[in-house]
Amino acid sequence: MSQLRHDAEFDPTMVTEITDRGYTVQRANVSRELMDAWRSVVSRGFLDSEPTDEQLAAFFDRNKDYRLIGIYDPQAAVPEMPVATLGAWGARLTVPGGELESFAVSAVTVAPTHRRRGLLRSLLGGELRAAAHAGFPIASLTVSESSIYGRFGFAPAALAADAEISVRQAGWIGPEPDGRIDFLTREQGRAVADELHERVRAGRPGEVDHRAGAWDYTFGTMPAVEKAGAIRVVQYRSPAGQVDGLAVYTVTENETNFPDSTLNLQRFIAATDDAYPALWRFLLSLDLIGTIRASELSIDEPLWWMIADRRAARVSVLDHHYLRVLDVAAALEARRYDRTDELVLDVSDPLGIAGGRFHLTTAESGAATVRPAESSATPDVELGIAELSAMLLGGVSAVTLARAGRLRSPDPERVARLFAGTVTPQLSFWY
Ligand SMILES: CC(C)(COP(=O)(O)OP(=O)(O)OC[C@H]1O[C@@H](n2cnc3c(N)ncnc32)[C@H](O)[C@@H]1OP(=O)(O)O)[C@@H](O)C(=O)NCCC(=O)NCCS
Repeated sequence: MSQLRHDAEFDPTMVTEITDRGYTVQRANVSRELMDAWRSVVSRGFLDSEPTDEQLAAFFDRNKDYRLIGIYDPQAAVPEMPVATLGAWGARLTVPGGELESFAVSAVTVAPTHRRRGLLRSLLGGELRAAAHAGFPIASLTVSESSIYGRFGFAPAALAADAEISVRQAGWIGPEPDGRIDFLTREQGRAVADELHERVRAGRPGEVDHRAGAWDYTFGTMPAVEKAGAIRVVQYRSPAGQVDGLAVYTVTENETNFPDSTLNLQRFIAATDDAYPALWRFLLSLDLIGTIRASELSIDEPLWWMIADRRAARVSVLDHHYLRVLDVAAALEARRYDRTDELVLDVSDPLGIAGGRFHLTTAESGAATVRPAESSATPDVELGIAELSAMLLGGVSAVTLARAGRLRSPDPERVARLFAGTVTPQLSFWY
């Protein structure tokens, strides 16, 4: 999918805005040299050190077919190093009862020497228009800072819970399923992870499919991952012999109190209601581990109901998966609804990409039909594209947004009931 569109045309307005300032814009994945320079700039932008030759080679192998864009300043001392970067690909995003092809965005950086001159605005604005033009109904990203993307119409649609669990305080009161836990090699874990993730993804709004190369970072199965040897992998197999779950973790020793060491949970994938408690129970029973740290959990984990002492888990909630609808009709028709209703939505879009007045009808089957509404039709809800994006997965209630002054409706509860979901949205990793 991403292979089809990584070389889609640039937005002409973006090109004009950039060239008028004396810069150039091009895809970096036309040569190994430009890819290496692009990757190094992204590392610097995210405060990492210079990639090694091995890391650059591994990056090139895994990413040459993605859409990697650089803005270049011919006056710079090293002109082949971009002054702004953005990477994108087509990702399959789960929505309630369905999925959408999302324009997934990552590696957004602007060099500190060129910041706050509007380069992000030109690049991201242009790419969103190009994505809409190429037929992507939605864009998505995870963020370093919450304050950046609202102005582009993005909003957090899936939150994430970070938890620090005091193992000896927790007390297991959950199920104790049959089946077995075994250690795997990192290569074995890598081999089963994608299929497991896809099983989970299908039923969990907010998840996207995992890029093949990104699994190699998780499992340390490419040459250049630092401390790959510290990564431990266990699987859960059902009594029928089916691999239904996987946990990936590292351990940080407590040098002054060895039995109080910390387990850092890197990935947790449980495709069944047996795999889930079996793996958590195993993790909470490890000798020498006093604390488990886990992030990108659901804010509504069944685990909270499986431990005797809730306060053993200190949880903080973060905005995590940001969405931005690019085509209102396609995005609303992709999901299923638990009620029949008819609403007129008036959607405003600061970038002028997707706004308008729409008539949404939902049927007994759960399917929706969206058609343009007459401009004279009285809206049942008026909202921005960011607020619509926030509600799409059912992660926030229209009542909450109305109380926050973020949407207007004579009956926000009716809107909330229509958009409500039964599974709390989650994205279990960063991209
Ligand atoms: C975030 C970053 C890409 C912004 O690039 P930039 O070219 O300086 O942004 P622009 O000049 O185009 O700014 C566009 C608007 O966003 C605002 N903005 C930019 N960065 C912001 C930030 N970090 N927080 C809040 N607002 C920000 C600008 O003030 C401007 O607002 P305005 O249009 O109302 O005047 C850049 O600072 C950066 O590379 N940061 C480090 C890496 C990073 O965090 N990337 C984001 C990964 S998710």
